[in-house]
Amino acid sequence: MTLALLRSKAFTTLLSLVLLVDLGQAIQETTTTASTSKDWWETAQFYQIYPRSFKDSDGDGIGDLNGITSKLEYLKDLGVTAAWLSPIFTSPMVDFGYDISDFFDIQPEYGTLDDFRNLIKKANELGLKIILDFVPNHSSDENDWFKKSVKREKGYADYYIWHDGKVNATTGKREPPSNWLQYFRGSAWQWNEERQQYYLHQFAVQQPDLNYRSPDVVAQMKRVLRYWLNEGVAGFRCDTVPTLFEVQPDADGQYPDEAISGITQDPDDRNFLTAKYVEDQPETIDMVYQWRTVLDDYQRIYGGNSSVLLIETYSPAWYTMQFYGNRSVNGAHLPFNFNFISVIEKNGLSAKTVQYSIDLWLQNMPAGRTPNWVLGNHDRRRAASRYGLKHIDAMNMLVMILPGASVTYQGEELGMTDGEISWEDTVDPWACNSNPNIFEQYTRDPERTPFQWTSGTNAGFTQGPTTWLPLAADYKTINVETESAADHSHLTIYKSLTALRRSSKTLQNGNTRYKVLSEDVFVVKRSLSGAASIIYVSNFGSSTVTVNLTEFDKTLPASLGLLIRSLDSKKTDGVKYAIGQLELESGEALVFSTE
Ligand code: GLC
Ligand code: MG
Repeated sequence: MTLALLRSKAFTTLLSLVLLVDLGQAIQETTTTASTSKDWWETAQFYQIYPRSFKDSDGDGIGDLNGITSKLEYLKDLGVTAAWLSPIFTSPMVDFGYDISDFFDIQPEYGTLDDFRNLIKKANELGLKIILDFVPNHSSDENDWFKKSVKREKGYADYYIWHDGKVNATTGKREPPSNWLQYFRGSAWQWNEERQQYYLHQFAVQQPDLNYRSPDVVAQMKRVLRYWLNEGVAGFRCDTVPTLFEVQPDADGQYPDEAISGITQDPDDRNFLTAKYVEDQPETIDMVYQWRTVLDDYQRIYGGNSSVLLIETYSPAWYTMQFYGNRSVNGAHLPFNFNFISVIEKNGLSAKTVQYSIDLWLQNMPAGRTPNWVLGNHDRRRAASRYGLKHIDAMNMLVMILPGASVTYQGEELGMTDGEISWEDTVDPWACNSNPNIFEQYTRDPERTPFQWTSGTNAGFTQGPTTWLPLAADYKTINVETESAADHSHLTIYKSLTALRRSSKTLQNGNTRYKVLSEDVFVVKRSLSGAASIIYVSNFGSSTVTVNLTEFDKTLPASLGLLIRSLDSKKTDGVKYAIGQLELESGEALVFSTE
């Protein structure tokens, strides 16, 4: 499944059908059992920082490392375990850091290696872990490796995927080797005058794909991992893993064309074709196992905590689950679970789609592995905009009540919503390669607007006069300053959740049961013998309903103590509520304890 396919209409229809079939036997309960001894990442709250938009320290309107360092206390106070940083490496910024020209150094506008070391030092002092973005699929075309490859320098000639192309029998003209399309619109092949060959780029023209069939490339990228482990990072988020390998050319050296998918009529859109030959190849899975070995070996040699691999993949479950490893080998600690994004984006938010999203992960996950729950990232519309601001607490609660790790994208703890981005303001290459009529479908800038620290000038993001993207309109009310001062806010709710996660053995180690209780109401119970059970209940519908929680679980006491409630809930924390007739307003979400 491609990233782009998940955006498409046809896929919506497809998935709706799957949902209907699946829900035929729905409202069933699911039980998962967990073990008791857990490594740090198994119950971690990961927090994604998009460095360009988090905090600017030098007034240029662009976030930077010293900005992040100055806000580590905020992360500590939030109660998160580890922060993963989108790329901070030297880059011409065509894809805002995902086009790396030097994998071993820091982008000057973000700071220096010393600034990074200082960030790590401060994070260590606070007991926070730092995870970096590892971008293995491609480099920038300004990377020395690519320049050397263009010149066919010894050792670098095969670093990228080069091809002569085909000669058209009728016109006699040279054409690209295949019809493959890049993500950011148009052909995935680019002619290079100097080398007189085409190179492959699954993303922008300036992001040539590295050749993983070259042992030198494989070794080089392992060097990248070890280099940053030496700098004290706690692991990596691995970017666009499914595109690592493409199919091998046939006996005549030719690549097969992809079939027309029928999903869109737009011939420049990646969705126009299938992605059978350019994604989800079997070799990719083994490469992830090899990276895991690099991390495990590092720990064996130097000691210290385990470092983690988080994998970005929007692939179908049969493929994604292989990243975890199998009986004989360990793979990624956590292949990201994007079901709460992809399934709900296409089918709407309801008790049923929530249950389906959870089932889709837990019922496919290999035994003994750790689940994880992601609400958003820098590539998708912000959670509060996708689910509706009314449901942001319900969703933040859900990912922290469910077993395993959870992932927050910066601003989700505040209920930040998407910024308004005009064609003139958009800078994302995906949008810029389109046109003013369709760019809104492609731009990822709305979810990348500056983080909202205060209600003051430029939301406290910068002291300078400008910000690299305009601020979202709601910064005067949705910001850290205002929400910290309030008795009850999205932020205080989020903090109560992380605190509960840290203190509750039940949430860390307990069993899990969940159920669609009535049309709109979803309920989760976590339980552990000898400890209080935690119960989550949420009304995703548009009207008030009354439910009987004993229908879900007859062993529950007649009343439950309220621990945490969504922003608009009129109930009172600490009070016990009878659960035989529990009234829930639209959007109300509650976390109870049996004690
Ligand atoms: C991943 C990143 C995205 C980037 C792409 C190419 O999907 O999350 O932001 O544009 O890879 O590196
Ligand atoms: Mg700056």
